[in-house]
Amino acid sequence: MLRVCVIGMGPIGNRHADMYRSDSLAQLVGVCDVRKDRADEAGKRLGVPAFTSVAEMLKSLKPDVVSVTTGGYEYGSDHYEPTMLALEAGCHVLGEKPISNEIAKGEEMVALAKRKNRCYGINLNHRFTPAGRLAKKWVDEGKLGHLLFVNMSMWIMNPAESSPWFHIKALHPHTVDVMRYYCGDISHVHCFASKAPGRTIWSTAHFSMRFRNGVVGGLTGSYDIQRGHPMERCEVAGTGGRFVLEDMWRELNYYPAGQVERTVYSNPVFGGFRDFEDTFRDRIHVFLEQVTAGVAPEKIDGSGEDGLAAQRVLQAAIESIQTGKTIEVR
Ligand SMILES: NC(=O)c1ccc[n+]([C@@H]2O[C@H](COP(=O)([O-])OP(=O)(O)OC[C@H]3O[C@@H](n4cnc5c(N)ncnc54)[C@H](O)[C@@H]3O)[C@@H](O)[C@H]2O)c1
Repeated sequence: MLRVCVIGMGPIGNRHADMYRSDSLAQLVGVCDVRKDRADEAGKRLGVPAFTSVAEMLKSLKPDVVSVTTGGYEYGSDHYEPTMLALEAGCHVLGEKPISNEIAKGEEMVALAKRKNRCYGINLNHRFTPAGRLAKKWVDEGKLGHLLFVNMSMWIMNPAESSPWFHIKALHPHTVDVMRYYCGDISHVHCFASKAPGRTIWSTAHFSMRFRNGVVGGLTGSYDIQRGHPMERCEVAGTGGRFVLEDMWRELNYYPAGQVERTVYSNPVFGGFRDFEDTFRDRIHVFLEQVTAGVAPEKIDGSGEDGLAAQRVLQAAIESIQTGKTIEVR
């Protein structure tokens, strides 16, 4: 059983901790937050020791796995320091998205994980669903034939106005990751963005993309629409057919080319996902399974490399908004 600590006890850190507590592969052994009130409250609720210093917790508990669920500027500036400390201490790390709000820091974290030969995953939870996996199987089995295009969209409400790039950097690690999961690496991006009434940040955006394998696609996203109806949709088409995945786990349709019948996967009543929290449960369980099985760090599903690749695409999109040009992803 893996000994696990969680660093950053906001709502998301508490959710990670709950998932570890209910997973048979893990034993939650400690929590940490620089805010003493949050550390103590979480420690009390979860029945584990609470720390305000990452270094002290790592030294005293020697965990095998650490979740880094800090946030900070653009929801990503605080991940770097605890991640580097945990990797240096020899832990496997599961970090929250975005990997970092700065590409250079993301690169350093990925490089250190590689040097230390530790598994480094990012909580790219939107791809961790049974329906998402089935769609991936269809792609891998060739049911879509030669891939042609992808249409992705996601919209939620987030009124925070911290940075002009908050929506792009903090929401779209998920959507770009899902697009990469099915269609591979993205080579070029052109992005148009707008500000909804009363907003100062680029809160709605459309990204036009070219993939290295020739697939073309679009991503539309927004932080301006209240929750209620479905919020995420991914359509991938090829010469052999097309799938549409609605809301990550709820419904998946396969439309074979040239036929009038389709295959439908609908989230089952018994044994299906109950809500969004199950995407965390699934993602965390897969990380624990892969670490337990000794999977090679470069084979980790939803890896640091994947998180970094998504962020590079988003950085190119930002450059596109600033210059009005199509940007090659570096
Ligand atoms: N995967 C998802 O679906 C999803 C959804 C929402 C948020 N998130 C991500 O989860 C992360 C956390 O979100 P949140 O809303 O819980 O944020 P939050 O700001 O409420 O909590 C983060 C906590 O980390 C603590 N912290 C910062 N630096 C620290 C350090 N060096 N050591 C110890 N504690 C430290 C802060 O004091 C704070 O309490 C963000 O990166 C966000 O992007 C992911």
